[in-house]
Amino acid sequence: MSPSIKAREFPHRHLLGIAELNEADITQILDLSETLRGINERPIKKVPTLRGRTVINLFLENSTRTRTSFEIAGKRMSADTINISGSGSSASKGETMLDTARNLMAMNPDVIIIRHQASGTPALIAQHVSCAVINAGDGTHEHPTQALLDCATIRKHKGVPGQGLKDLEIAIVGDIDHSRVARSNIMAMTKLGARLCLCGPATLMPRDVEGLAGPEASERVRVCYRLEEALEGADVVMMLRIQNERLGAGATRFANTREYSRYFGLNRNTLSLAKPDAIVMHPGPINRGVEMMPDIADSMRSVILDQVAYGVAVRMATLYLLGGGSFGES
Ligand code: NCD
Repeated sequence: MSPSIKAREFPHRHLLGIAELNEADITQILDLSETLRGINERPIKKVPTLRGRTVINLFLENSTRTRTSFEIAGKRMSADTINISGSGSSASKGETMLDTARNLMAMNPDVIIIRHQASGTPALIAQHVSCAVINAGDGTHEHPTQALLDCATIRKHKGVPGQGLKDLEIAIVGDIDHSRVARSNIMAMTKLGARLCLCGPATLMPRDVEGLAGPEASERVRVCYRLEEALEGADVVMMLRIQNERLGAGATRFANTREYSRYFGLNRNTLSLAKPDAIVMHPGPINRGVEMMPDIADSMRSVILDQVAYGVAVRMATLYLLGGGSFGES
């Protein structure tokens, strides 16, 4: 690994959302992830890059993939990683988020990674701490590292070298309204040149959904309410989970799960409308038989586990860029 990896300084102190990144920033993270991915395939998966750095994983909302991959990413870069979860923290005793953050800061970490059910929490914390803050998913707002790992996966399978995601047709299907994954991906994918079709029941579509990509890219986003229409000619099909936990107790936006699955669930027949070499994605956790039939999730078209593998590499790259890592100096 050469020091030239730092040739372009990353111009951000925190990673709070894709909104603040431009195409060059995103490409820098994806390129670095591609380089770092190789470390995960070695017999000894460890480099000294972040030796002596402390990374705190503060996860106040459930997570399997994101929390584990941030922890593994930190460990493979030799950082000391500490995990704090909602039930094991003083948040459950009534401590405010700011007090928790200030107390953690007194221990002098280099990076705090935050997942929280309230949109905006990582941005608020970033204003009150002197270390780097990474948003690992805040409410319905953003999930930037998920979008980055999704773009890395698409670029690998479908991208033309040096062209980002230019002119790829990507269908994102499901509960767009409550999905921070969709919000971050709409921005990241359009910044890299893709064209998107957002699809789901009208009751799960946010108002001004085309506007989520920003004024320059809104013409590259269309909305449709029929799965068949969204899938036609797609290079990439990304299915999303219904975020029941954000609907409120007893609330529902569609008649029942069986009906949702009938109209918006991906099965062999509907997938045949996409390009013959289209890939199928899902951020996980999958509700098998609801948004996607099990045979599709397990098929050769599915790159879902590749997304998980890129998750570690992308998180290594963000920790490196924000945690002050250095190659070739140890
Ligand atoms: C997503 C999340 O938490 O927003 N999952 C993830 O991070 N892999 C999507 C979801 O929970 O459905």
